[in-house]
Amino acid sequence: MSKDYKRTLITTALPYTNGPVHIGHLAGVYVPADIYARYLRLCGRPVTLIGGSDEHGVPITLKARKEGVTPQDIVDRYHALIKKSFEDLGISFDIYSRTTSAIHHDTASEFFRRLYDKGEFIEKTSEQLYDPEAGQFLADRYVTGECPHCHHPAAYGDQCEACGTSLAATDLINPKSTITGAVPELRQTRHWYLPLDKWEPALREWILEGHKEWKTNVYGQCKSWLDLGLQPRAVSRDLSWGVPVPVEGAEGKVLYVWFDAPIGYISNTKELYPDSWETWWKDPETRIINFIGKDNIVFHCIVFPAMLMAYGDNFQLPDNVPANEFLNLEGDKISTSRNWAVWLHEYLADFPGKQDVLRYVLTANAPETKDNDFTWRDFQARNNNELVAILGNFVNRVVVLTHKYYDGVVPAAGEYEAIDREAFAEMAQLRTSLTDNLETFHFREALKDAMSFARLGNKYLQDAEPWKVIKTDPERVKTIINVCAQICASIAVAMEPFMPFMSKKLAAILGNLTLDWNILGSDSVIAAGTVLGQPELLFEKIDDAAIQAQTDRLEAIKKQNALAAFKPEEVAPEVKIDDFAKLDIRVGTVLECTAVPKAKKLLQFVIDDGTPAHRTIVSGIAEHYSPEELVGRQVLFIANLAPAKIRGVLSQGMILSALNADGRLIVAAPSAPCSPGAQVK
Ligand code: 2FM
Ligand code: ZN
Repeated sequence: MSKDYKRTLITTALPYTNGPVHIGHLAGVYVPADIYARYLRLCGRPVTLIGGSDEHGVPITLKARKEGVTPQDIVDRYHALIKKSFEDLGISFDIYSRTTSAIHHDTASEFFRRLYDKGEFIEKTSEQLYDPEAGQFLADRYVTGECPHCHHPAAYGDQCEACGTSLAATDLINPKSTITGAVPELRQTRHWYLPLDKWEPALREWILEGHKEWKTNVYGQCKSWLDLGLQPRAVSRDLSWGVPVPVEGAEGKVLYVWFDAPIGYISNTKELYPDSWETWWKDPETRIINFIGKDNIVFHCIVFPAMLMAYGDNFQLPDNVPANEFLNLEGDKISTSRNWAVWLHEYLADFPGKQDVLRYVLTANAPETKDNDFTWRDFQARNNNELVAILGNFVNRVVVLTHKYYDGVVPAAGEYEAIDREAFAEMAQLRTSLTDNLETFHFREALKDAMSFARLGNKYLQDAEPWKVIKTDPERVKTIINVCAQICASIAVAMEPFMPFMSKKLAAILGNLTLDWNILGSDSVIAAGTVLGQPELLFEKIDDAAIQAQTDRLEAIKKQNALAAFKPEEVAPEVKIDDFAKLDIRVGTVLECTAVPKAKKLLQFVIDDGTPAHRTIVSGIAEHYSPEELVGRQVLFIANLAPAKIRGVLSQGMILSALNADGRLIVAAPSAPCSPGAQVK
């Protein structure tokens, strides 16, 4: 932080309300923003945490169309779900509003109108993609096609998700409407453009010169955008869902969702503080921080700042934009459309009372500098080996000992010995490191520091051995338990930003401790004489069954996705009927089926083929069936294939099977019982 600010306004990317929020959103934006806001509050520094739903944009209208409901139905449903699940996770928004609110529509309209009146837009008629079947222009997610940069076959009209490039719909190669599948035609339409090029020198100065301290991923992305040269960007669309363009003759046109959404931060502040919102936006002594995911960098660092500069009137630019990379799930990219996600509302239902565990794991694995992976096994291990074994265990031991020796009353410390002084010195260092890491948005490291208070506590207790000393020097034990109580109290403070539910419970056990960052790590966080509550487990183990249920669910989704994505092989070159007739395909009944020793893929069959001799066939399907599954079943086999020796067994034919989308071989069989030896025609 380059100067002392009076207050901090923290904004969090407004999630689209076309689905619930998942762990990727949480790890990237909401958990870090909440940690930071809670930390500032504990320091006693004025802060406002702004959240809300982004309720316009094409993904919402597409979802509504798919379900046969209105966009309003969709946003009402997901806004309520998202708001509630954020609350349940303890995200401490001062306001969580929505962009369909009247105050937002008014604010966004006024913003556009002022830029329009100031002559800040270029008005331009150009040819745009139009779907003649749907009767509407296609932009953004209404159109897909090949990316002109990386040639990904399914880029969208606003962005290629494969290479991250921002696109215009007309850039796409072979575009196709996502509404009807029609090939679009070009039609003329008029729109308003914000000339980003006009603001390029100011943006360069502000970011490249003024904010070298920004995260390298953010700074780097801004630099490459600026170095490529900025172009005018359309801020209106031919759609019916959105904030209507507030000028004469703009019927059927709305503000581009990325024009209105960031204004949502302002509208929500206005809704929260109708009389003083301007202090939070226009006073240079307010520090604005935007928490976002990496796909939002350009809008927050280039487009929205250019809008604010064009508006003028002292609107302040963000002081920092700590954007995170992406979180993957079990090695695969999180995807709403493929249902590859851990949805927050489902997590809360499956793991009641375990909000802090998720917050802890997402922070410990936060994708701060590179994409990272969430796995359920890691979730379980971190809970059982860290939260239960290190943190919960230490606090429990201290509370139990205090009850055992002093009826739960924290004793006064006597004279400190070296070990006590070392513990406080180490806590002072931890506090400095933790504070620095929080100030610079290094939340993973900050969490490690906070956890180190508990590690230090365990070590102190182990070395001080009050259970031995009590027999020889009971006075000394009073000091030891006091130091332990100080460490517990520091844990309650240090962990509050990360695990507020645990912290609240711990503060209650510690005699309703007041949490104050300013005395963290000192020897006066908890007063001697405080009466502790009864010991309570802060965390409980998560068993294998709970984890298995989650991984089974993901396995099932993976299978469903593979089936849905299945594309049959190209058909082989044409053959004449005579060629087909050369193959003698027959029905047979499996009489015996055994594994071929030392061949993990092979099964050996004895098939009733209608002849008294029967026949032996070796088939490579052992990885897909157990032998017992097949005995008694009917199969189709090629009866006139030249016999061949496989692993020393003479195989007299080939059993037919199909390779399924999930990679499984399925044995082909007649749809009703047939006589063994019946010929397939
Ligand atoms: O990427 C998204 O989910 C957008 N809805 C974020 C908008 S952030 C802000 F500008 F509102
Ligand atoms: Zn691409």
